[in-house]
Amino acid sequence: MNYQVIIPAAGSGKRMGAGYNKLFLPLDNRPIIDHTLNIFLKDACCNRIILVIQPNDKILFEEIFKKDHYSKIRIVDGGSERQYSVYNGLKAADNKGIILVHDGARPFIQAETIKQLVRFASDYGAAIAAVPVKDTIKRVNAMEVAETIDRSSLWQIQTPQAFRYSVLKDAHDQAKSEDFLGTDEAALVERMGHPVKIVASDYDNIKLTTPEDLYFAKAILEKRKENSYN
Ligand code: CTP
Ligand code: MG
Repeated sequence: MNYQVIIPAAGSGKRMGAGYNKLFLPLDNRPIIDHTLNIFLKDACCNRIILVIQPNDKILFEEIFKKDHYSKIRIVDGGSERQYSVYNGLKAADNKGIILVHDGARPFIQAETIKQLVRFASDYGAAIAAVPVKDTIKRVNAMEVAETIDRSSLWQIQTPQAFRYSVLKDAHDQAKSEDFLGTDEAALVERMGHPVKIVASDYDNIKLTTPEDLYFAKAILEKRKENSYN
């Protein structure tokens, strides 16, 4: 089943501390964003990539993907918050079918997870990738434990998040008109009372956020290389 994907890549990577957009940092001699883009460039079911960037980064991005990919990639200007960047992407998308939102900073998403998300979005309207929480989670007030939360029902939410186009557009329009800022797309959809299904993803699908994540990224790449030789 075909889909389009919005890739927000218009951040500044403050927590990574590189002094520039972290998506240009190399991973196995290629920029992080090149890894992420390639997953969707290679997927025949993905018929459009909407890459959301800061105008200042445009030349660097254009160097990364070659001219022959222009037919599949549409470039859009980002906003000051991730949600605004995604909204700009949404306005440039085709207004039908299944649409995914996937962080440029998650280069390890597996094809099988994408496939399942698209299927679930088509069947139920909204589906998001997630993994069960491994640590014990407590609510803390002024450095004192207020509550231990039952871990058995807690999931750590990732991207991709997949939707029927109309579900995501309505959710974004409503959030905009009510000045609501969420940390993911699903939060906007949940607010409308629309159910959101979970697709079990894997722990490799990390978001490269702080410098130590680059060590994990190297380890994941090593593991995948070893597996492909076997
Ligand atoms: N993003 C975006 N527009 C923004 C902010 C973030 O498109 N205004 C994108 C980032 O480029 C990234 C994804 O959203 O691919 C997830 O955001 P995050 O990991 O927080 O990246 P940054 O915002 O760049 O990092 P930081 O918060 O540390 O500054
Ligand atoms: Mg950010």
